[in-house]
Amino acid sequence: MDNPRTFHVKSFGCQMNVYDGERMSELLQAEGMTAAAEGSDADLVVLNTCHIRERASEKVYSDIGRLRRDDGSRPMIAVAGCVAQAEGAEIPRRAPAVDIVVGPQAYHRLPELVRKARGGEKALDTDMPLQSKFGALPARRRQGTSAFLTVQEGCDKFCTYCVVPYTRGAEVSRGWAAIVDEAKALVDGGAREITLLGQNVNAWEGEDERGRLQGLDGLIRALDALPGLERIRYTTSHPNDMREGLIRAHAEVAKLMPYLHLPVQSGSSRILKAMNRSHTAESYLDVISRVRAARPDIAISGDFIVGFPGETEADFEDTLKIVAAVNYAQAYSFKYSPRPGTPAAAMNEQVPAEMMDERLQRLQALLSERSLAFNRATIGKRTSVLIERQGRRPGQMLGKSPWLQSVHVETEAKIGEVIEVEIEGALPNSLAGRMLTLTPTAVAA
Ligand code: SAH
Ligand code: SF4
Ligand code: F3S
Repeated sequence: MDNPRTFHVKSFGCQMNVYDGERMSELLQAEGMTAAAEGSDADLVVLNTCHIRERASEKVYSDIGRLRRDDGSRPMIAVAGCVAQAEGAEIPRRAPAVDIVVGPQAYHRLPELVRKARGGEKALDTDMPLQSKFGALPARRRQGTSAFLTVQEGCDKFCTYCVVPYTRGAEVSRGWAAIVDEAKALVDGGAREITLLGQNVNAWEGEDERGRLQGLDGLIRALDALPGLERIRYTTSHPNDMREGLIRAHAEVAKLMPYLHLPVQSGSSRILKAMNRSHTAESYLDVISRVRAARPDIAISGDFIVGFPGETEADFEDTLKIVAAVNYAQAYSFKYSPRPGTPAAAMNEQVPAEMMDERLQRLQALLSERSLAFNRATIGKRTSVLIERQGRRPGQMLGKSPWLQSVHVETEAKIGEVIEVEIEGALPNSLAGRMLTLTPTAVAA
């Protein structure tokens, strides 16, 4: 096989998977390759996979089939991400067109694997080396207005339905200095908003430059001091790691946005116990009320699983009740998907598919009614919008409100600027705003 000159990375998973995809692109660019817009044009295609639910997991195999070109040739194919970690050598056995398999903790070695694959060998690396991949990656390149920054990886929680502890490994916090340096590089590269990422981001801890133990709130306060950075967000948090300092940061840190993604999964404490979630419906509601006391306008978002093994109609109604009690601004809901090797997959009383469908529809109807109500409640309000890209119509730009709603607005403001708008209209997934003033944004030092 020839030396690949162009590459295409396609990410299928969560924000951390997207972050990994960006870092792989930067790594391949540092090797002298250039990015191709489409997979079919590229010499090397990296499928950065997700294993969280069956449908996400199977997508990779249909994509591999589609990579054959009209003349019968195909690009070099690398499978990265969580399916690579979970299935390893099984992947080239099932799909012989795959040349490289590389796990989420080993992708800094992608260039070596490409060299090995060029020799016609299958190249596989699913190690979870003790020393972190981050130190071996090249410096960050120019990013969009809103950038991701992984600060914490892995999970020790072992919810009984979830593959993440197996595909990402144990909980590890990145060091303070590396994170602050990366944040500075992102801001220098044009980022105005940074979202700190981790499977359990609020479990992050580390020592600051003076050796004091800090939690995520300490890190957020340090980033708050970065000139040129306008907004800070973080995701995903676990209810049990929602400590007092972080809650207080929502009242005190100006750049920390009023938005919290805090998955509850179910409103039934019995099901939560079977899920090994280590919180109850009551303890979750208690966290929410403490967060709201600190920041009354905060938008709460969540994740839900319907049809976990043993879920009765009464359990499901408890989920509807918690949705009403929390009044989510936004939420993701999924049908339970049994994942190989997880304890829940072996549980009795799997819920029939039709019942799951029916429950998911009821839950989603309630959630979308709530998010429309949340959006409508912002009509008439004045708020800041960070401009992220051009809209579809000429003169129209698209940005985000502090509560993570998409806002369409006619403006001459440029990407990366923060403007003041009045919200005039609301749809289920976006708002329409009228520009009031252009507030000059600080220029990165
Ligand atoms: N660390 C985060 C998110 C992990 S994965 C957390 O603790 O919440 C993102 C979401 O996928 C989960 O919140 C859950 O709602 C969903 N999910 C995970 N495993 C699943 C499974 N086996 N079936 C259906 N949904 C699942
Ligand atoms: Fe998965 Fe639970 Fe860990 Fe979230 S906390 S990543 S759902 S095991
Ligand atoms: Fe998927 Fe792995 Fe993220 S399984 S959700 S890509 S951690």
